[in-house]
Amino acid sequence: MARKKLIRFKKALEFNNVFALEKLTDFKFANQFSKKVLEIGCGHGLFSYEYAKENPDIFVLGVDVKLDRIFKGANLAQNDGLTNLYFFRCPVAFLIDHLKNIDFDEIWITFPDPHSKLSGIKKRLIFDFYLKIYKDLLNDDGSVYLKTDSVLMYNYALFQIQKFNLEFVDFTFLNEYPKPFDYKTIFEMKYLKLGKRIKRLKFNLKGFILK
Ligand SMILES: C[S@@+](CC[C@H](N)C(=O)[O-])C[C@H]1O[C@@H](n2cnc3c(N)ncnc32)[C@H](O)[C@@H]1O
Repeated sequence: MARKKLIRFKKALEFNNVFALEKLTDFKFANQFSKKVLEIGCGHGLFSYEYAKENPDIFVLGVDVKLDRIFKGANLAQNDGLTNLYFFRCPVAFLIDHLKNIDFDEIWITFPDPHSKLSGIKKRLIFDFYLKIYKDLLNDDGSVYLKTDSVLMYNYALFQIQKFNLEFVDFTFLNEYPKPFDYKTIFEMKYLKLGKRIKRLKFNLKGFILK
């Protein structure tokens, strides 16, 4: 690991707003907030940071496997003294075991890797197995939100929505969309500079049954 990455890796684990499989919590403190938001694959955590900063009464949790990326958002949150933003280094596959004390209102999947080869389909963060996890993490009225620059990921999301007969709203071609979509991630800023269209979807998992 490069030296800078290693330093960030170690420092992130020392922050009191960062948890990991080697530094666990029961997250019960999340329940003092009436609304709870989870960002999946948060990377540097800028979306979570902006969401939490603008909404101090909402609990926000960013999840990623890359601790050196999490460092950035966690550091910003520490410097600003945010008490409603936390990060958790954990693969999505293991989240159910660790987040059983929280019913989330929103799950945001921001610019997930499209894994464009067919052999990578099971790694897509909206593959069947992951949708089941999100259903278990959400409360009954909760929704999943997806932002992506990728045409492949967007089309795959529409495919999954149809396959599982899910209620959804597609904001991609509308000028109006709910404000949280505005909070930007690092990848989003990069894609916007390249002139890419950002696709925005919201769906719920009420009718979801793993086939
Ligand atoms: C393309 S990056 C996007 C990062 C951030 N959302 C952004 O838009 O700037 C995808 C992120 O998802 C994370 N990721 C991919 N698969 C994951 C998994 N199974 N569990 C947790 N994080 C995952 C990666 O580590 C990476 O940081």
